[in-house]
Amino acid sequence: MGNFNLVLLLSLALSFCLFPFPTSAQLKQNFYANTCSNVESLVRGAVTKKFQQTFVTVPATIRLFFHDCFVQGCDASVIVASTSSNTAEKDNPDNLSLAGDGFDTVIKAKAAVDADPKCRNKVSCADILALATRDVIALSGGPSYAVELGRLDGLSSTASSVNGKLPKETFNLNQLNSLFAANGLTQTDMIALSAAHSVGFSHCSKISSRIYGNPVDPTVNKTYLGQLRSMCPKNVDPRIAINMDPNTPRTFDNMYYKNLQQKMGLFTSDQVLWEDTRSRPTVNIWAGNKQAFQSAFITAMTKLGRVGVKTGRNGNIRRNCAVFN
Ligand code: HEM
Ligand SMILES: *[C@@H]1O[C@H](CO)[C@@H](O)[C@H](O)[C@H]1NC(C)=O
Ligand SMILES: *[C@@H]1O[C@H](CO)[C@@H](O)[C@H](O)[C@H]1NC(C)=O
Repeated sequence: MGNFNLVLLLSLALSFCLFPFPTSAQLKQNFYANTCSNVESLVRGAVTKKFQQTFVTVPATIRLFFHDCFVQGCDASVIVASTSSNTAEKDNPDNLSLAGDGFDTVIKAKAAVDADPKCRNKVSCADILALATRDVIALSGGPSYAVELGRLDGLSSTASSVNGKLPKETFNLNQLNSLFAANGLTQTDMIALSAAHSVGFSHCSKISSRIYGNPVDPTVNKTYLGQLRSMCPKNVDPRIAINMDPNTPRTFDNMYYKNLQQKMGLFTSDQVLWEDTRSRPTVNIWAGNKQAFQSAFITAMTKLGRVGVKTGRNGNIRRNCAVFN
């Protein structure tokens, strides 16, 4: 092999070690210091107003951010609406029924930012979604944290791009770990982020095989099983949704892990974090230590926010978050 090839091979290998995932050295906390220095207070104001109108903004916004980042990166492509010629991400059946209040939260926050003349069309929808997510978590009792900024909005959004990118509620630990690893996230990050299921709702269809299957899932707490069956009777209206955290459904807290210890995780993908002895120690630590959970959660959210970030020619700042410029 010639020297040139060897050097090429070595530098390729080195760059894969340094940048194994599409990351974003450009992101920084004060990205808008010279263009829209008050962006954080503008977003927080709009999000707080929305929160006072409906709690649903909390889970809806958090889940929107997660889905956005896992499908084509954190680029607000999930917010784009379908047109007659393009079926967008949000209309893939796997959008897992994203609640409209998450979209509305971002649209309202964007309007608040753009109402300030110096900020108009300067802040990306992707960054507004990242800030709004931090704000709804803090408003519901979770940790507050500094958000890295500087993402651009993506230039494509197709329903087919969603396929295989989102986890299923039936996943076991290996399946969860491999999907999160594909996004540069560790098992620890995955367990921390799963605590988002400490707020919000699930449709009964997602658990029918756990509670009515043959056999019934033996990892469901017997008392909880009775409660789930009464809230989700057979042939229930498919629009009916139940709390994912039966104990503190409106607080973003570490109750999620305490529930898992009682076999009260809602999905297989939740309960498996305690059932599998490889992840159980982490669940047990965070069930008993709120500070340790919160710091792991902040680390994981920051990493989630770096997934597939668009810069340069790969993105722009959308004037309307739901429509390409
Ligand atoms: C670990 C694998 C995960 C699986 C299998 C999963 C699956 C699901 C499913 C099936 C629902 C219910 C959807 C419905 O019936 O409408 C749901 C809801 C939700 N998920 Fe996840 N999820 C996972 C991880 C995450 C992560 C990492 C986050 C955020 C950091 C998240 C945030 C949420 C929120 C907030 C809701 C409630 C949505 C609402 O009330 O509108 N999930 N998830
Ligand atoms: C999610 O997908 C379903 C089925 O394709 C669609 O009917 C629904 O409107 C979508 N939800 C949102 C919020 O776009
Ligand atoms: C089931 O939940 C109850 C509390 O609702 C708890 O006392 C009990 O220990 C749980 N059972 C198991 C097997 O974890």
